[in-house]
Amino acid sequence: MKTVLTILAITFGVFALYFKIGLIVPASKGETVAMESHKLRELALSRGLKPVPASWEEAKSAVYNPQNTITPKKVALGKSLYFDTLLSSDGTVSCATCHIIDDGGDDNLPTAVGVHGMKNPSHLNSPTVLNAALAKRQFWDGRSPDVEDQAKGPIQAPFEMDMTPKEVVERVSADPGYKRGFAEVFPDEGVTFDTVTKAIAAYERTLLTRGAFDLFLDGDDDAISDKAKKGLYLFIRLGCKGCHTGMSVGGQSLQRFPLRRYNSILSPESRLVNGKRYFVGFNWQKISAEEPFPFPDTGGFHGRNGQFLFRVPILRNVTRTAPYFHNGSVKRIEDAVKIMARHQLGLLLSDEQVEEIVAFLKTLEGEPVKYDISDRGYRE
Ligand code: HEC
Ligand code: HEC
Repeated sequence: MKTVLTILAITFGVFALYFKIGLIVPASKGETVAMESHKLRELALSRGLKPVPASWEEAKSAVYNPQNTITPKKVALGKSLYFDTLLSSDGTVSCATCHIIDDGGDDNLPTAVGVHGMKNPSHLNSPTVLNAALAKRQFWDGRSPDVEDQAKGPIQAPFEMDMTPKEVVERVSADPGYKRGFAEVFPDEGVTFDTVTKAIAAYERTLLTRGAFDLFLDGDDDAISDKAKKGLYLFIRLGCKGCHTGMSVGGQSLQRFPLRRYNSILSPESRLVNGKRYFVGFNWQKISAEEPFPFPDTGGFHGRNGQFLFRVPILRNVTRTAPYFHNGSVKRIEDAVKIMARHQLGLLLSDEQVEEIVAFLKTLEGEPVKYDISDRGYRE
C-alpha cells in the first residue's frame, strides 16, 4: 500500500511539473495594496523617481553641460539642423526621420531605416530622443557618454545618414543662413563637425517631457487614475524602479538582460500577492545560446561586448514607442511588461497587475517643457 501511494505521489509530482501546475496557488490573485496618494508620492520620491519641472528655468540644471551651454540661438540652430535632410548623403534623411518629436521621439518601426532604404545591420530599434539628455549613457550598449558625442554617430553611419565630417562642413557652410547662424553662435570656431553636433545636442537637451506623472509627483492627487496608482506601487514594490530610475525613468545604467534564463528545471517562478512572493512552480522554458532572448534574436545584437548588457531604456513616453526591446521584436507594451517581470524579476504577473503597470506607464507620456526660441530657424 505504502509503495503504491509513493508511486502515485511521484507520478503526480512529475505530471504537475510537466504541465506546469502551480505547487502553491495563491488564494487571491492580483490585488494590490491600496495606498493613500500622499504616501505613494513620498514612496516614489524616496525611491529616486523625480518629476520633470514645469518650467525650463527649473529644468535646465538637470541637463546642464558646461562644455555645451544652452542659449536660445544655439537651440534654434540645432533645431534647424535636427530637421534638415541636408545632413544625409542622398538628402532624404534627417534626425527627425527616425526620431519623430511629436510621436514619442522614435519612428514606430521595428528597425531603423536610413539612406537608400537601408536597415540597421543589427536590426536595432530607434530609441526615443525625448529626455535622452538625462541618460548617463547613450545607445543600446551605452557606448557613448552624452548627446553631443552621440550625434556624431548617425551622421557618419553608412546605413543612417552616410556623411563624412568634411561633407557636413561643406554643405552647412554653403547655406548662407547656417553660415550666419554659426558666426553668431560659435564666433571663434564657425562651422565644424564639432559645432554642428553641439548645436543639435543643445536642441536635444531642451527635449524634456512632462505629463500626468509629474503633476502627481508635484502634489496633484487626481492627476493619475487609481489604476495607475496601483501600477506605480507595483513598479516600485516589484523592483522595476531598481533599473528604470531617475527623472528619465531609465537611462542611468547598463544591466544584464535576460537576468533569468530558465535553462534548468530548477528555475522557480513566483507571484506577488499583497506584497508577498508565492512560489507557483517551475518554469520549463529553455533558452539556449542560439535563442538567447524571450523573443526572436533578429539582428544578433547581444549588448555591450556581446555580454547581454544593455543600457536600461528610458520609460518616459514608452507607451508611444512600440515596438519594444533593442531589436523591436515585441509589439505590445503588455508583453514587454510580462517579459520584464518574468526575466528580470522572476515573477509571473496577473493580467490585472500588467494592466495596472501599463496604466502607470501611460502617465509617463508628456509634452516637451516649453523652451522659447524664435521658430524662424536658420536655414535659408
Ligand atoms: C536611420 C535612423 C536614424 C537616424 C537618421 C538617426 N537615428 Fe538616432 N538612433 C537610431 C538608432 C537605431 C539608435 C540606436 C543605435 C544603437 O544603439 O546603436 C539611435 C540612437 C539615438 C540616441 C540614443 C538614445 C538613447 O537613449 O540611447 C540619440 C540621442 C539619437 N539617436 C539622436 C539622433 C540624432 C541627434 C540624429 C541626427 C543627427 C539621429 N539620432 C539620427 C536611429 C536613427
Ligand atoms: C535588472 C534591470 C531591470 C529590471 C528590474 C526591469 N527592467 Fe525593464 N528593461 C531593462 C533592460 C536592460 C531593458 C532593455 C532590454 C533589451 O532591449 O534587450 C528593459 C526594457 C524594458 C522595456 C522596453 C522598453 C523599450 O523602449 O523597448 C519596458 C517597457 C520595461 N523594460 C519595463 C519594465 C517593467 C515594467 C519592469 C518591472 C516589472 C522592469 N522593466 C524591470 C532592465 C530592467
